[in-house]
Amino acid sequence: MPVLETNQVKKQYQMGEVTVSALAGVSLAVEQGEFVAIMGPSGSGKSTLLHLLGGLDGPSDGEITLAGQPLARLSDDEVTLVRRRKIGFIFQFYNLLPTLTAEENVGLPLLIDGQSLERHREKIARLLALVGLADRRDHKPDQLSGGQQQRVAIARAFVNDPEIVLADEPTGNLDSKSGTAILELLRKTCDELEATIVMVTHDPRAASFADRVVFIKDGRLVQELKNAGNRDVQPIVEVMAGLEL
Ligand SMILES: Nc1ncnc2c1ncn2[C@@H]1O[C@H](COP(=O)(O)OP(=O)(O)OP(=O)(O)O)[C@@H](O)[C@H]1O
Ligand SMILES: [Mg+2]
Repeated sequence: MPVLETNQVKKQYQMGEVTVSALAGVSLAVEQGEFVAIMGPSGSGKSTLLHLLGGLDGPSDGEITLAGQPLARLSDDEVTLVRRRKIGFIFQFYNLLPTLTAEENVGLPLLIDGQSLERHREKIARLLALVGLADRRDHKPDQLSGGQQQRVAIARAFVNDPEIVLADEPTGNLDSKSGTAILELLRKTCDELEATIVMVTHDPRAASFADRVVFIKDGRLVQELKNAGNRDVQPIVEVMAGLEL
């Protein structure tokens, strides 16, 4: 059974008189342990899709099932709990709280869920070590580099043992060296923690770390590429050229 499944998902935004169609019927299944990259031009619906997958917004039509649970059948409170306990989020601009240390930022999803950090200290330390920040535990975000802040955000995304991690341009704001380190880290979490990851990116190099690349255009999935996470950019670039992306 896939961890995450969408069936003919549509999303329209109403802007006064005008209806904007952001997603025009997307069906996608993500298997446990899979690292999927979603690529497509600006405005093609990538972030919209990620928001719907994460229960941050509801579809206009179609169904989204996470870990066997159709999100539409849940109350708002239940969706909030699913988001807290089953999903990890990584954004382009880290979204760390400036007054909290690295350790506290990593533990934030647990705090929000009413759990004590004390009980999870070992796990937080393990995650900080995994992202190479064992010695930056007590640093605040403004005492960390951009790449280090994003690594804190990655550790945070995994702290609730999520069924799936959703990442929107996680390397979009980083130089190429830090970006590569982040992508290697995501690859490693997939291989070692058997994490399931859906990552939106513009960058074929970033997508080349994934097991599968899904191409979206005008709110539709138009092509798929099995990639084996082998970091070969060429096939991705060729599909992009073929689709005129
Ligand atoms: N809240 C909103 N209200 C109205 N229209 C929206 C809203 N959010 C997105 N859209 C529209 O939906 C379409 C898809 O937007 P989306 O943000 O999903 O694109 P994207 O693929 O993530 O683009 P980018 O690569 O630039 O981030 C766009 O045409 C956008 O203008
Ligand atoms: Mg976007």
